Amino acid sequence: MPVTKAVLPVAGLGTRFLPVTKAIPKEMLPIADRPCLEYIVAEAVEAGITDLIFVTAAGKGAMEDYFHRSIALEEHLERVGKLDMAKEVRRVGELGTVVTVRQEQALGLGHAVLMGAPATGGEDFAVFLGDDIIDAKVPAIQQLLDVHAEKGGSVVALMDVPREETNRYGICAGEMLRPGLMHVSGMVEKPDPADAPSTYSIVGRYVLSGEIMQILTTTPRGKGGEIQLTDAIAVLADRGEVFGLEFEGDRFDTGNVVGLLCASIHFTLKRPDLAPAMRAALAEFR
Ligand code: G1P
Repeated sequence: MPVTKAVLPVAGLGTRFLPVTKAIPKEMLPIADRPCLEYIVAEAVEAGITDLIFVTAAGKGAMEDYFHRSIALEEHLERVGKLDMAKEVRRVGELGTVVTVRQEQALGLGHAVLMGAPATGGEDFAVFLGDDIIDAKVPAIQQLLDVHAEKGGSVVALMDVPREETNRYGICAGEMLRPGLMHVSGMVEKPDPADAPSTYSIVGRYVLSGEIMQILTTTPRGKGGEIQLTDAIAVLADRGEVFGLEFEGDRFDTGNVVGLLCASIHFTLKRPDLAPAMRAALAEFR
Protein backbone atom coordinates (compact mmCIF):
# COMPACT_ATOMS: atom_id res chain seq x y z
CA MET A 1 0.00 0.00 0.00
CA PRO A 2 1.54 3.37 -0.94
CA VAL A 3 2.31 5.80 1.86
CA THR A 4 0.02 8.80 1.46
CA LYS A 5 0.02 10.35 4.92
CA ALA A 6 2.58 12.45 6.70
CA VAL A 7 2.79 13.76 10.24
CA LEU A 8 4.49 17.14 10.62
CA PRO A 9 5.18 18.06 14.24
CA VAL A 10 5.00 21.86 14.15
CA ALA A 11 4.03 22.71 17.72
CA GLY A 12 7.47 23.92 18.88
CA LEU A 13 7.85 27.37 20.42
CA GLY A 14 10.81 28.33 18.25
CA THR A 15 12.72 29.80 21.16
CA ARG A 16 15.96 29.99 19.16
CA PHE A 17 14.27 32.55 16.92
CA LEU A 18 12.87 34.82 19.63
CA PRO A 19 11.79 37.55 19.53
CA VAL A 20 10.39 37.08 15.99
CA THR A 21 8.67 33.83 16.99
CA LYS A 22 6.75 35.69 19.68
CA ALA A 23 4.29 36.56 16.90
CA ILE A 24 5.21 34.36 13.92
CA PRO A 25 5.43 30.56 13.93
CA LYS A 26 9.00 29.43 13.30
CA GLU A 27 7.78 27.34 10.35
CA MET A 28 6.52 30.50 8.63
CA LEU A 29 9.92 32.23 8.62
CA PRO A 30 10.96 32.71 5.01
CA ILE A 31 13.52 30.95 2.88
CA ALA A 32 13.70 33.35 -0.07
CA ASP A 33 10.03 34.32 -0.49
CA ARG A 34 8.37 31.15 0.83
CA PRO A 35 7.85 29.91 4.35
CA CYS A 36 10.17 27.10 5.51
CA LEU A 37 7.24 24.77 5.81
CA GLU A 38 6.37 25.10 2.13
CA TYR A 39 9.64 23.41 1.17
CA ILE A 40 8.72 20.46 3.39
CA VAL A 41 5.16 20.27 2.11
CA ALA A 42 6.43 20.46 -1.49
CA GLU A 43 8.83 17.55 -0.82
CA ALA A 44 5.98 15.49 0.60
CA VAL A 45 3.62 16.25 -2.26
CA GLU A 46 6.29 15.48 -4.87
CA ALA A 47 6.64 12.03 -3.30
CA GLY A 48 2.92 11.32 -3.62
CA ILE A 49 1.84 12.22 -0.10
CA THR A 50 -1.66 13.67 -0.13
CA ASP A 51 -2.61 14.01 3.54
CA LEU A 52 -0.58 16.38 5.68
CA ILE A 53 -1.23 16.09 9.38
CA PHE A 54 0.04 19.18 11.20
CA VAL A 55 0.55 18.59 14.92
CA THR A 56 0.28 22.11 16.12
CA ALA A 57 -0.23 24.30 19.19
CA ALA A 58 -1.78 27.61 20.19
CA GLY A 59 -0.63 30.61 18.17
CA LYS A 60 0.17 28.62 15.02
CA GLY A 61 -2.92 29.50 12.98
CA ALA A 62 -0.87 31.21 10.25
CA MET A 63 0.31 27.81 8.99
CA GLU A 64 -3.23 26.56 8.45
CA ASP A 65 -4.24 29.78 6.74
CA TYR A 66 -1.28 29.52 4.41
CA PHE A 67 -1.98 25.99 3.21
CA HIS A 68 -5.73 26.44 2.82
CA ARG A 69 -7.24 28.30 -0.09
CA SER A 70 -8.27 31.91 0.33
CA ILE A 71 -10.96 32.35 -2.29
CA ALA A 72 -11.52 35.99 -1.33
CA LEU A 73 -7.84 36.81 -1.93
CA GLU A 74 -7.77 34.89 -5.23
CA GLU A 75 -10.86 36.73 -6.46
CA HIS A 76 -9.43 40.07 -5.44
CA LEU A 77 -6.17 39.38 -7.33
CA GLU A 78 -8.13 38.29 -10.40
CA ARG A 79 -10.32 41.43 -10.26
CA VAL A 80 -7.28 43.70 -10.19
CA GLY A 81 -5.65 41.77 -13.04
CA LYS A 82 -2.86 40.14 -11.02
CA LEU A 83 -3.50 36.77 -12.59
CA ASP A 84 -0.03 35.23 -12.01
CA MET A 85 -0.22 36.10 -8.35
CA ALA A 86 -3.74 34.69 -8.10
CA LYS A 87 -2.45 31.45 -9.63
CA GLU A 88 0.44 31.29 -7.17
CA VAL A 89 -1.82 31.89 -4.17
CA ARG A 90 -4.16 29.17 -5.41
CA ARG A 91 -1.28 26.72 -6.03
CA VAL A 92 -0.13 26.98 -2.41
CA GLY A 93 -3.67 26.43 -1.15
CA GLU A 94 -4.04 23.29 -3.23
CA LEU A 95 -0.75 21.57 -2.34
CA GLY A 96 -2.36 18.92 -0.19
CA THR A 97 -5.10 18.15 2.29
CA VAL A 98 -4.13 19.65 5.61
CA VAL A 99 -5.52 18.21 8.82
CA THR A 100 -4.64 19.90 12.08
CA VAL A 101 -4.41 18.22 15.45
CA ARG A 102 -3.36 19.89 18.68
CA GLN A 103 -0.55 18.87 20.99
CA GLU A 104 -1.79 20.36 24.21
CA GLN A 105 1.25 19.49 26.29
CA ALA A 106 4.86 19.69 25.13
CA LEU A 107 5.83 16.15 26.15
CA GLY A 108 8.35 15.47 23.39
CA LEU A 109 8.62 14.48 19.73
CA GLY A 110 7.26 10.97 20.33
CA HIS A 111 4.21 12.45 22.00
CA ALA A 112 3.74 14.92 19.14
CA VAL A 113 3.78 12.11 16.56
CA LEU A 114 1.32 10.10 18.67
CA MET A 115 -1.12 13.02 18.49
CA GLY A 116 -1.38 12.29 14.76
CA ALA A 117 -2.67 8.74 15.37
CA PRO A 118 -6.39 9.44 14.80
CA ALA A 119 -5.53 10.83 11.35
CA THR A 120 -3.06 8.12 10.23
CA GLY A 121 -5.61 5.37 10.86
CA GLY A 122 -3.06 2.61 11.51
CA GLU A 123 -1.33 3.02 8.12
CA ASP A 124 2.39 3.40 7.59
CA PHE A 125 3.20 7.10 7.39
CA ALA A 126 5.98 9.60 6.87
CA VAL A 127 7.30 12.10 9.41
CA PHE A 128 8.91 15.39 8.47
CA LEU A 129 10.73 17.58 11.00
CA GLY A 130 10.49 21.22 10.04
CA ASP A 131 14.06 22.15 10.97
CA ASP A 132 15.57 19.95 8.28
CA ILE A 133 15.21 21.31 4.76
CA ILE A 134 16.69 18.97 2.16
CA ASP A 135 17.32 19.95 -1.44
CA ALA A 136 17.70 16.81 -3.54
CA LYS A 137 17.16 15.65 -7.12
CA VAL A 138 14.99 12.81 -5.82
CA PRO A 139 13.10 14.13 -2.77
CA ALA A 140 14.70 12.74 0.40
CA ILE A 141 11.41 11.24 1.54
CA GLN A 142 11.07 9.50 -1.85
CA GLN A 143 14.51 7.95 -1.30
CA LEU A 144 13.23 6.59 2.05
CA LEU A 145 9.96 5.43 0.48
CA ASP A 146 11.95 3.48 -2.11
CA VAL A 147 13.77 1.62 0.68
CA HIS A 148 10.45 1.07 2.45
CA ALA A 149 9.02 -0.45 -0.75
CA GLU A 150 12.06 -2.70 -1.08
CA LYS A 151 12.59 -3.79 2.53
CA GLY A 152 9.36 -3.03 4.41
CA GLY A 153 9.60 -2.03 8.07
CA SER A 154 10.53 1.52 9.02
CA VAL A 155 13.18 3.75 7.47
CA VAL A 156 15.03 6.73 8.95
CA ALA A 157 17.19 9.29 7.14
CA LEU A 158 20.83 9.19 8.21
CA MET A 159 23.74 11.57 8.05
CA ASP A 160 27.29 10.96 9.23
CA VAL A 161 28.17 13.75 11.67
CA PRO A 162 31.37 14.72 13.54
CA ARG A 163 31.58 12.74 16.78
CA GLU A 164 31.38 15.88 18.94
CA GLU A 165 27.86 16.48 17.57
CA THR A 166 26.28 13.13 18.51
CA ASN A 167 24.59 14.75 21.53
CA ARG A 168 22.36 16.74 19.15
CA TYR A 169 20.80 13.77 17.34
CA GLY A 170 19.32 10.31 17.57
CA ILE A 171 22.20 7.95 16.73
CA CYS A 172 21.88 4.58 14.97
CA ALA A 173 24.05 1.49 15.16
CA GLY A 174 23.88 -1.43 12.75
CA GLU A 175 25.29 -3.26 9.80
CA MET A 176 25.77 -1.72 6.36
CA LEU A 177 23.84 -3.83 3.81
CA ARG A 178 25.29 -1.80 0.94
CA PRO A 179 26.88 1.64 0.75
CA GLY A 180 24.46 4.09 2.37
CA LEU A 181 21.95 1.51 3.62
CA MET A 182 22.08 0.37 7.23
CA HIS A 183 20.12 -2.43 8.86
CA VAL A 184 19.64 -0.72 12.20
CA SER A 185 20.09 -2.81 15.32
CA GLY A 186 20.02 -0.08 17.95
CA MET A 187 19.22 3.59 18.44
CA VAL A 188 19.96 6.04 21.18
CA GLU A 189 18.75 9.62 21.61
CA LYS A 190 21.44 12.29 21.87
CA PRO A 191 24.28 10.25 23.42
CA ASP A 192 27.45 11.92 24.70
CA PRO A 193 30.18 11.59 22.06
CA ALA A 194 32.06 9.09 24.23
CA ASP A 195 29.01 6.79 24.48
CA ALA A 196 27.70 7.10 20.90
CA PRO A 197 27.52 3.70 19.18
CA SER A 198 28.34 5.36 15.83
CA THR A 199 28.28 8.78 14.21
CA TYR A 200 25.25 8.04 12.01
CA SER A 201 22.64 10.53 13.11
CA ILE A 202 18.96 10.71 12.30
CA VAL A 203 17.83 13.77 10.37
CA GLY A 204 14.22 14.80 10.16
CA ARG A 205 12.72 12.31 7.70
CA TYR A 206 11.14 9.01 8.66
CA VAL A 207 8.85 6.40 7.10
CA LEU A 208 7.29 4.56 10.00
CA SER A 209 5.30 1.39 10.42
CA GLY A 210 1.76 2.13 11.59
CA GLU A 211 2.57 0.01 14.64
CA ILE A 212 4.74 2.81 16.04
CA MET A 213 1.61 4.58 17.34
CA GLN A 214 0.80 1.63 19.60
CA ILE A 215 4.40 1.54 20.81
CA LEU A 216 4.33 5.27 21.55
CA THR A 217 1.37 4.86 23.88
CA THR A 218 3.63 2.94 26.27
CA THR A 219 6.99 4.60 25.58
CA PRO A 220 8.30 5.95 28.89
CA ARG A 221 9.87 9.39 29.18
CA GLY A 222 13.49 9.29 28.07
CA LYS A 223 16.21 11.85 27.36
CA GLY A 224 15.33 15.24 28.83
CA GLY A 225 12.23 13.78 30.52
CA GLU A 226 10.46 13.70 27.13
CA ILE A 227 8.70 10.93 25.22
CA GLN A 228 11.25 10.32 22.47
CA LEU A 229 10.40 9.09 18.98
CA THR A 230 13.85 7.49 18.83
CA ASP A 231 13.04 5.28 21.85
CA ALA A 232 9.86 4.00 20.19
CA ILE A 233 11.62 3.25 16.89
CA ALA A 234 14.35 1.47 18.89
CA VAL A 235 11.72 -1.14 19.86
CA LEU A 236 11.26 -1.93 16.17
CA ALA A 237 15.04 -1.84 15.58
CA ASP A 238 15.43 -4.46 18.27
CA ARG A 239 13.28 -6.74 16.11
CA GLY A 240 15.37 -5.99 13.01
CA GLU A 241 12.59 -3.96 11.37
CA VAL A 242 14.37 -0.63 10.89
CA PHE A 243 16.62 0.59 8.07
CA GLY A 244 18.68 3.76 7.85
CA LEU A 245 19.43 5.51 4.58
CA GLU A 246 22.21 7.98 3.98
CA PHE A 247 20.14 10.08 1.59
CA GLU A 248 21.57 12.09 -1.27
CA GLY A 249 21.02 15.83 -1.15
CA ASP A 250 21.94 19.08 0.60
CA ARG A 251 20.55 19.38 4.09
CA PHE A 252 20.07 22.68 5.87
CA ASP A 253 19.48 22.90 9.61
CA THR A 254 16.99 25.74 9.68
CA GLY A 255 16.60 25.41 13.44
CA ASN A 256 19.19 28.15 13.90
CA VAL A 257 19.52 31.63 12.46
CA VAL A 258 22.62 31.05 10.32
CA GLY A 259 21.27 27.75 8.98
CA LEU A 260 18.07 29.50 7.92
CA LEU A 261 20.04 32.25 6.18
CA CYS A 262 22.25 29.68 4.39
CA ALA A 263 19.11 27.92 3.14
CA SER A 264 17.77 31.26 1.94
CA ILE A 265 20.97 32.00 -0.01
CA HIS A 266 21.05 28.46 -1.45
CA PHE A 267 17.47 28.54 -2.72
CA THR A 268 17.74 32.16 -3.92
CA LEU A 269 20.78 31.19 -6.01
CA LYS A 270 18.65 28.48 -7.63
CA ARG A 271 15.95 30.94 -8.69
CA PRO A 272 16.55 32.40 -12.15
CA ASP A 273 14.56 35.53 -11.21
CA LEU A 274 16.61 36.19 -8.06
CA ALA A 275 20.04 34.60 -8.61
CA PRO A 276 21.79 37.45 -10.51
CA ALA A 277 20.90 40.05 -7.85
CA MET A 278 21.82 37.61 -5.06
CA ARG A 279 25.21 36.88 -6.63
CA ALA A 280 25.92 40.57 -7.03
CA ALA A 281 24.91 41.26 -3.43
CA LEU A 282 27.07 38.41 -2.11
CA ALA A 283 30.11 39.74 -3.97
CA GLU A 284 29.89 42.85 -1.77
CA PHE A 285 30.39 40.84 1.43
CA ARG A 286 33.83 40.28 2.86
C1 G1P B 1 14.92 15.38 16.93
C2 G1P B 1 15.03 13.89 17.26
C3 G1P B 1 16.45 13.40 16.99
C4 G1P B 1 16.83 13.72 15.56
C5 G1P B 1 16.67 15.23 15.29
C6 G1P B 1 16.89 15.53 13.81
O1 G1P B 1 15.66 16.13 17.86
O2 G1P B 1 14.66 13.69 18.62
O3 G1P B 1 16.51 12.02 17.21
O4 G1P B 1 18.16 13.32 15.33
O5 G1P B 1 15.36 15.67 15.62
O6 G1P B 1 16.85 16.89 13.54
P1 G1P B 1 15.46 17.73 18.05
O7 G1P B 1 16.27 18.36 16.97
O8 G1P B 1 14.00 17.98 17.91
O9 G1P B 1 15.98 18.03 19.41
